[in-house]
Amino acid sequence: MRLLLNDAVPGAASPGDPLDAPALERLYAYPDRPWLRANMVSTLDGAAAGNDGRTGTINTPADLVVYTLLRDLADVILVGAGTARAEGYMSADPRTGDRAARAVAEGRAAHPEMAVVSGTGQLPPLLAERRENGGGVLLVTCEAAGAGALDRARHTLGADRVLVCGRESVDLRAAVDALVDRGLPRILCEGGPRLLADVAAADLLDELCLTVVPLLAGGVEQRIAVGTSADAPLVPGVVIESEGTVLQRWLRPEA
Ligand SMILES: NC(=O)c1ccc[n+]([C@@H]2O[C@H](COP(=O)([O-])OP(=O)(O)OC[C@H]3O[C@@H](n4cnc5c(N)ncnc54)[C@H](OP(=O)(O)O)[C@@H]3O)[C@@H](O)[C@H]2O)c1
Repeated sequence: MRLLLNDAVPGAASPGDPLDAPALERLYAYPDRPWLRANMVSTLDGAAAGNDGRTGTINTPADLVVYTLLRDLADVILVGAGTARAEGYMSADPRTGDRAARAVAEGRAAHPEMAVVSGTGQLPPLLAERRENGGGVLLVTCEAAGAGALDRARHTLGADRVLVCGRESVDLRAAVDALVDRGLPRILCEGGPRLLADVAAADLLDELCLTVVPLLAGGVEQRIAVGTSADAPLVPGVVIESEGTVLQRWLRPEA
């Protein structure tokens, strides 16, 4: 991996430097305040999934390194129910290597939490299953999901793990506030495209980590953000290249 641009983290590394794991971790460190970072992958022609409808067919080794790092650094992974169903999401694995021990030493959990957003209150099946070494699961939903769905989710997850944010639709700002109030200020949104557009439209997106893989996919897959108009400007903070994969941090412009 080599660094092409670093306007985000002065002193972490300089353009042209090869990047080892500690340097990469410095470049992706969360700031010391509540922060919502999204992480998405795209082909050269803008497809947010391979032609099989999943991201596994467009991921590269470099993307996997950063994907794992970003999960390790986060307190909570925020994901849309559509992505959780399409990608077979399960509760999160423990942080890798010494990152779990370091998190615990800082008073944080050994695992990131998984918070799934569903307006209909339908918990994706694999997130309803308890795994021996998996982290906690939260459901972010709204009153319009209805009493039956809310009762089922509370029965499965526990009452305090169902966050009812909004009446007719999910109020994402209230959801982010609720996560921060639970002691989870480092938020990693892994999409999908509908959730990302809604997060950006609600002016909640502090940062987009975008991996562009060296593949022209064609086909009919959607872009990384679709649905609600967002018009969120972002400025480049970090650009890294590895065997044709380009890894980028795009940041909210300074106020
Ligand atoms: N390129 C990438 O980095 C990336 C990342 C993630 C996913 N993907 C791909 O994207 C595809 C899935 O797309 P998708 O549009 O289904 O993604 P999505 O945004 O994860 O799912 C949409 C569903 O999630 C729930 N949801 C999302 N935002 C919501 C909101 N603001 N309020 C209430 N509910 C909300 C709703 O579920 P309910 O119907 O339960 O209410 C909605 O139907 C898959 O092909 C996946 O592989 C790509």
